[in-house]
Amino acid sequence: MTLSAATVQVCDECGNEMSARDTRTQCTKCGGLLSLRYDPPAERGLALKEVFDTRLKTRNALPESSGVWRFRELVLPDASDGEIVTQPEGNTPLVRRERVAAWCGLDSIDLKLEGANPTGSFKDRGMTVAVTQARRLVAPAVACASTGNTSASLAAYAALAGLPALVLVPNGQVSLGKLAQTIAYGARTLLVRGDFDDCLRLARAAADKLGVYLANSINPYRIAGQKTIVLEMLQQLGWRAPDWIVFPAGNLGNTAAFGAALREASDLGLIDRMPRLAAIQASGAAPFAASFRENFRQRHTVRAETVATAIRIGDPASYHRAVRAIRETNGVVIDLSDAEILDAKAVVDASGVGCEPASAASVAGARALVARGTIRREDAVVAVLTGHILKDSGILLQYHRDTDPPPALANRPLEIDADLAAVERVLATARRSDA
Ligand code: F0G
Repeated sequence: MTLSAATVQVCDECGNEMSARDTRTQCTKCGGLLSLRYDPPAERGLALKEVFDTRLKTRNALPESSGVWRFRELVLPDASDGEIVTQPEGNTPLVRRERVAAWCGLDSIDLKLEGANPTGSFKDRGMTVAVTQARRLVAPAVACASTGNTSASLAAYAALAGLPALVLVPNGQVSLGKLAQTIAYGARTLLVRGDFDDCLRLARAAADKLGVYLANSINPYRIAGQKTIVLEMLQQLGWRAPDWIVFPAGNLGNTAAFGAALREASDLGLIDRMPRLAAIQASGAAPFAASFRENFRQRHTVRAETVATAIRIGDPASYHRAVRAIRETNGVVIDLSDAEILDAKAVVDASGVGCEPASAASVAGARALVARGTIRREDAVVAVLTGHILKDSGILLQYHRDTDPPPALANRPLEIDADLAAVERVLATARRSDA
């Protein structure tokens, strides 16, 4: 096993190489986004699977007990143990839920529960790598723009690394839980009078002009970490590729990361066929779906609006590399209404798993793609649930308790007097409606 491979940053568009220590997140020649390139691991195929599987079985000490650093040869091979900032993260369950499958019209569906990460979303997988890199660079501070999960994650990892964190979030458009986390973990929190796209513009300018290290998913170290959602899922499936990986898409970091992970998994002989990616957007924030419908002839931007605030993004930064990911995997991009997303969330929640609104777009997407005949009933489907159910309890209560008339799947709480007769009456109605 070689852990000394030198990492470089390579422009996705023109191939220009930049030092791994360069803190700029765009190509200095053409402005394209950067990806990491490192020497491939010495092992391939079965031998490489065995390296990863042995670490999983023996549950090594940190950092390799992390579901990110278990795959360190494909993440950041030249990071030494002492440099790595890890909680640890990853190692999230992959569970089968029959009720969710039935609702989607599928024989079965596997749910990848990324809400089980330390701060409750998949962002921790990218953040362990970005903050590790920030520490290696001796960055004075880290910063991000966020719809809430990135900021919570950055705040937590910065606290772990002892680095000051600056976060920019759209004022009034971030769920209370995410904002509370961000503040509690100690990040300097700026409530920007604007939307996410304004915040990202500002964060990029702050990184350029003020020298803080940018930890948004345009940062290639973030993408390197997020690849492990797919790598870990493949490992959990015994390295048998599913037919479909369905997931929510906002700023398109995950779309890019999943494409990169599958490309590498295929090149290194970890899988023998390509799953198809299905990226799901909310209709009010669906510039990528609009481009897909036109065979990516044009890049769109919109003013975004959706109840799924995590993906309320109108000008996704990782557009070009996401296009590549969809093309290489024969993928699809669709958009669905807020009502469809919230119904899917109610079904996922009632299965005992639960997720935040944006995450439910994946299950809503699986159902819609089955209905359209794109996904077949017998296909092997993994839906990625990107964030925890408690990330946005406001929307949840609005759906179940406060919407009139109640949606079909609403579970209305009932207010009663403090006496047993009232409880009895409720039980009797529940029995009658069960019969
Ligand atoms: N799901 C959740 C729960 C998210 O928080 C995000 C993005 C996405 C899906 C979309 O992923 O951007 O890679 O396409 N949240 C970012 C944030 C933007 O700031 O927390 P993407």
